[in-house]
Amino acid sequence: MTDLLLGTTASGERVQLPPQGLTTHGFVLGMTGSGKTGLCVALVEELVRAKVPVIAVDTKGDLATLLLALSPEDPALATWTADVAKERARITAALEALGLTPAQWSAVRASYEPRLYTPGATTGLPVDLLGSLAPPTDPGAEAIAEAADGATRGLLGLLGIEADPLTSHEYLLLVQLLTTAWTQGQTPTLVDLVRQVAAPPFTTVGALPLEDFFPQKERQALMVRLNGLLASPKFAAWRTGEPLDPQRLFLAADGRPRLSVFSVAHLSDEERLFAVALLLERVHGWMRRQGGAQGLRAVVLLDEIFGYFPPAPANPPTKPPLLGLLKQARAFGVSVVLATQNPVDLDYRGLGNIGTWWVGRLQTEQDKARIRDALASAAAWTGASAAQLEQLIATLEPRQFLLHSVHRPQPVVFRSRDTLSVLHGPFSAEELRTLAAPMKATASAPVTPAPVVAAAPAATSATPTANVTAPIGLEPELGPVYEVDKGVALPFLLLKFGVRYRLGAAVSEETVHELAFPLESTLSAAEVLEGAPLSVRGVPFQGSKPDAVTLTPMPPWVAGLKAAKLQSVIKERLPSKLETKLLYDAATKLISGPTETADAFATRVLEKQGLSKEAQKLMRQLEKKRVDAAQAEKELSTRKAEKWLQVGAGVLGIFGGRRSSLSGVGRALSSQRYEGGAEARLEDLKLEIQQLEHQLAGLKEIDPRRFEEQLAVPRAGDVSILRLCYAYIVP
Ligand SMILES: Nc1ncnc2c1ncn2[C@@H]1O[C@H](COP(=O)(O)OP(=O)(O)OP(=O)(O)O)[C@@H](O)[C@H]1O
Ligand SMILES: [Mg+2]
Repeated sequence: MTDLLLGTTASGERVQLPPQGLTTHGFVLGMTGSGKTGLCVALVEELVRAKVPVIAVDTKGDLATLLLALSPEDPALATWTADVAKERARITAALEALGLTPAQWSAVRASYEPRLYTPGATTGLPVDLLGSLAPPTDPGAEAIAEAADGATRGLLGLLGIEADPLTSHEYLLLVQLLTTAWTQGQTPTLVDLVRQVAAPPFTTVGALPLEDFFPQKERQALMVRLNGLLASPKFAAWRTGEPLDPQRLFLAADGRPRLSVFSVAHLSDEERLFAVALLLERVHGWMRRQGGAQGLRAVVLLDEIFGYFPPAPANPPTKPPLLGLLKQARAFGVSVVLATQNPVDLDYRGLGNIGTWWVGRLQTEQDKARIRDALASAAAWTGASAAQLEQLIATLEPRQFLLHSVHRPQPVVFRSRDTLSVLHGPFSAEELRTLAAPMKATASAPVTPAPVVAAAPAATSATPTANVTAPIGLEPELGPVYEVDKGVALPFLLLKFGVRYRLGAAVSEETVHELAFPLESTLSAAEVLEGAPLSVRGVPFQGSKPDAVTLTPMPPWVAGLKAAKLQSVIKERLPSKLETKLLYDAATKLISGPTETADAFATRVLEKQGLSKEAQKLMRQLEKKRVDAAQAEKELSTRKAEKWLQVGAGVLGIFGGRRSSLSGVGRALSSQRYEGGAEARLEDLKLEIQQLEHQLAGLKEIDPRRFEEQLAVPRAGDVSILRLCYAYIVP
């Protein structure tokens, strides 16, 4: 599948990103007017061209512009732009730059279905957010707890009740009501919830009798407020419309991908948090129901995340599902793209999961100060110079971005390509109504599962994996066959999972395993993990059965196996099988990953521990020299943005967590020492920088003997199943 064309460099080179590159998520940063929204629009256009479904969460009211993908000849242009001739010429030129004829552009537009959702309003398509509180799709206790927490906090936000999850009576009661209902597979309505506040189906909360904890008389007040939601005409729109179902938001009834703009700009802050949290929660649940994916399955874009994903201790209801998506979505081929003016809007735990960065102009002192703080606070970012980054990005022009991606060989400065859609400022309610009118006529009921856009073979990771597997719960079709092309293949259960460990408050990195458990006739469903598993990580499975392979029939008990049952058996039994010894560092409270070497762990410990006073002093000197070098370099450069790449590459060690030095040029050049001119000065500086770096490296060592070895068993919640299917293997 084709790469996403995002723009061109100053020398006219096209800047592209493979779609599957987005599965490690994206982050767009830049001051107001730097072109973030324009870039996001171009990106979404590229995604729909690649047939990837998108939900674009519009918090500022300008992303409905995505629904203005018009042909240059469309008479509707006159409705949306003052200068039709100019806009027509712009679109025509943009199409030409992409090599698209108007007919091809029409075909692209016909290949996806645009939707405009306005939760809490009927200007666009309304969404039923309150009518029913459906359980999360994942029946596990952890998923239920997370969803109940999100829904409760969202509801209390709507009611204007500030709730502390540890002490608030309202919170604890509602969370227990939802958890109880969902654990029993029920979908309570808001009416049910109001009634249950009056008469809960349990008599204790925690260790306390309900009536002592939250007496009937006091519950009355909560009931009245909840009832207010039901009675208020304002909230009537919250209970009408389509159910909030990501499957529908991503896919049309006829199987075409959808581009769903989820517009929340008209809502109050609390209402937005509630609506967006519920959406993200559902996407998270939906995602976990899908099998693992190598390619890009769907994208969720949030333009302007101010307030949605703030650093701790702030914890709005949007944060847990967003964090969950950033951490887990990769394995499911779901990508999150976030944009903001301000890097401190983002929780640092999320930053480490983002593989693709677009940094645009950041100019005001305030912005710079913020990025400085952000740089200083993120542990993985130590060792790089914030000052250089500041200098580089202050020189970018509007629409110019520094792109760094783990999927590209090196960072690059480019200008975003012109959007095909008409860029229109914030839309009025009337304008939204006009846009949504044709959509309201279309009934919708998607049935087809989300397709996985296959990864381009050359661009995938080094380990090819199975591409045809039989999802659990279905009749096992032909499973993949292990490596060989002849012999007798036995049925296995293929389980791919991620696990992290805890010792005290420390949490390890996640490691991913892929095991195949034999499905033997002497076993039962509950014993499925008892056989000795084969590790099949990285094993190339084949999609079709080679002729010379004979399949052994599945044991009869497998036919009755339900996905939910199997998942719960695995969740229950797998953790105890994953006991392992880990290294613990008491000083930094860090633990090693199960496969991490002591040396690798020591490097991480050093990053966390920070540097000694002496090293810090060296760091400061180094930073100053780097600034001076950047300055000298700037004098030398012709100020073309691309010339900044060298500095960028040095600075961008930050983003990849790699440490790289500024210097790429020859070492000594001492003959030039006393020569005047910026060039000699620069070479001198580079030499000094190298020496400082060398000294600094000597100060960064840790003796692995200080680590203690400890035994750790993961908690159930720390084991996440990424893929579960049958496989035929010739052992
Ligand atoms: N890809 C693009 N194609 C055409 N015009 C663009 C593009 N990107 C930006 N522009 C122009 O630049 C202006 C400002 O860009 P944009 O709205 O994307 O900035 P922003 O970074 O999203 O700002 P804010 O933070 O205020 O939302 C747009 O109104 C548009 O005129
Ligand atoms: Mg914007």
